[in-house]
Amino acid sequence: MTADSITTLPHVSAPEAAEFQADVIAGLSSNPRTIPCKYFYDAEGAVLFQKICELPEYYVTRTEIDILDRNRTDIASELGPDVQLIGLGTGAGTKTRILIEALDNPAVYVPVDISEQQLRESTALFRKIFPNLEILPVCADYLQPVVLPRPSRKPARNIVYFPGSTIGNFEPDEAAEFLRRVANVCRGGGGLLIGVDLKKDRRVLEAAYNDRAGVTAQFNLNLLRRINRELGADFDLDRWSHRAIYNSDAGRIEMHLVSETDQFVHLNQHKFHFSREEKIITEFSYKYAPDEFARLAAKAGFHFVRMWTDAAALFGVFYFTS
Ligand code: AVJ
Repeated sequence: MTADSITTLPHVSAPEAAEFQADVIAGLSSNPRTIPCKYFYDAEGAVLFQKICELPEYYVTRTEIDILDRNRTDIASELGPDVQLIGLGTGAGTKTRILIEALDNPAVYVPVDISEQQLRESTALFRKIFPNLEILPVCADYLQPVVLPRPSRKPARNIVYFPGSTIGNFEPDEAAEFLRRVANVCRGGGGLLIGVDLKKDRRVLEAAYNDRAGVTAQFNLNLLRRINRELGADFDLDRWSHRAIYNSDAGRIEMHLVSETDQFVHLNQHKFHFSREEKIITEFSYKYAPDEFARLAAKAGFHFVRMWTDAAALFGVFYFTS
């Protein structure tokens, strides 16, 4: 089987240009103004995010990988044999690879990713590394209900794997709602393995989102570049700056794009006015204390089993059963 077989599988196309435009117009018309963070990841954005993951200040990715690496045997025995592993937004698959290598005879791997390109590449790679593992990729926005493909070997249980602290992009209410839907997939003795960024000193958090090399600023500003490129808007990149602050009351990093001048931006027939210092919110990245996250998952019907963390308790890999 080749990676091309992806096209014959349940398939939902990535957000269309019309949807992108509608989301941007709605976001720029709202108060406060927003642009959904899922639009960060066009080709340029994906490259910039890879660079973020390698920054000295951005502890998130390397810490999660390190936790998986050190605890792979433990994690695998907790998850059990013959599982159907459903990966949500697993991207290039660096973490998932570690997990699958440790698992006891997994029945099938179902990567669900919104980026078709990313999915094709990681599927081709995983089929090479794990020639005996059935891999059934699904190109879909996992925020929408996803139809799961039918594996040829019946799995013992469903394990949903949601790495990267992507759960931090949801407002807590949305996170609980999302976890409730995930719990449905895990019914009948399944589980959820999820990476969550933990609360910590604000200086550490703010440094991670305001790196000295300015890569996160480029990543944030790329949204405007993408809107210009794909929707024909006229954002003047020289008049916008990146800002990331930790809102400790809400427990989240907030990424903003700040207008440096009083200005107008055109998008088709729309004309948006921005005053000096006015912001567009581009991302929330919620941070949780371990017990806080366990309570959130409990609201969705999950039972906390374990959390693996690093020596400095920067990041948590949680395991819940349904
Ligand atoms: C991919 C959502 C986990 O919130 O840390 C990194 C995205 N934004 N730097 C995060 C991000 C700015 C990242 N997540």
